[in-house]
Amino acid sequence: MIQLNEFKNKTVLLTGASAGIGAAAAHAFGSRGAHVIVHYNRRREAAEQVVAGISAAGGSGETVQADLATLAGVRGLVDWLHARPVNILVNNAGSLVRRARVLEFTPELMEQVMMLNFTSAFFVAQAVLPGMLERKHGAIVNVSSVAARMGGGIGALGYSAAKAAMSAMTKNMAREFGPAGIRVNTVSPGTIDTDFHRNFSTEQMLTNVKAATPMGRLGTSDEVADAIVYLCSEGARFIQGQALEVNGGFLMV
Ligand SMILES: NC(=O)c1ccc[n+]([C@@H]2O[C@H](COP(=O)([O-])OP(=O)(O)OC[C@H]3O[C@@H](n4cnc5c(N)ncnc54)[C@H](OP(=O)(O)O)[C@@H]3O)[C@@H](O)[C@H]2O)c1
Repeated sequence: MIQLNEFKNKTVLLTGASAGIGAAAAHAFGSRGAHVIVHYNRRREAAEQVVAGISAAGGSGETVQADLATLAGVRGLVDWLHARPVNILVNNAGSLVRRARVLEFTPELMEQVMMLNFTSAFFVAQAVLPGMLERKHGAIVNVSSVAARMGGGIGALGYSAAKAAMSAMTKNMAREFGPAGIRVNTVSPGTIDTDFHRNFSTEQMLTNVKAATPMGRLGTSDEVADAIVYLCSEGARFIQGQALEVNGGFLMV
């Protein structure tokens, strides 16, 4: 069970926390006493509102901006993190960027999609791991996707490949850092009702997903946030290198 003040005196870095799953997780950590670094790219005001909500719920927070689809943006965040202790990292920022069929993919689009959905997560983890190693304690959750196992819908090849790479990264890091007391796991959402789908999915696609989901509906950001928080809690102290699927039964194997 997660305690009321489970994350008191802990700093949580949540990438992509201005909206959707990240914002819900930021609130869930903050309301359990954490100091939350709310990262955003374009939605500064929304990120500031997330921090205001956290403060109202008894936690504290601050915002930081970085475009994680670019190497310059990743470097900016890594420099900003220098010497800042981070106890928990949630690599959540991600996007399809745009749907492109295989023959339409350009090197630039592939680089952007991989940077945002995989490479940036690796370098942000690399930036916070030395501090976790010193403290012999830490938790990392990488937010992957059901697309990592299914290959993604038409036009989502780069995204699904990046998420599969992220899932592999989880297992590799779990193996290397487990002995040092650092836990690394994945949360793999199915179709969650966020702006992601307002940007990239049609009503017909969402209707088809609901029909193929035993629970008959899309998931909510709070439902994914609960899984993220659980994996970072003491209750998950022996869970290492695993993927927690939050998809209403859409994919069970
Ligand atoms: N929704 C789903 O069905 C679903 C399913 C599987 C996996 N996921 C994954 O869950 C995570 C959160 O998705 P969501 O549904 O909550 O999406 P969302 O509501 O669209 O939020 C995406 C977050 O990522 C940030 N972001 C987007 N592009 C960025 C960039 N170039 N640089 C830095 N940050 C960027 C956004 O920041 P700004 O808004 O401030 O720009 C926002 O905070 C993503 O990794 C996504 O792939 C979602």
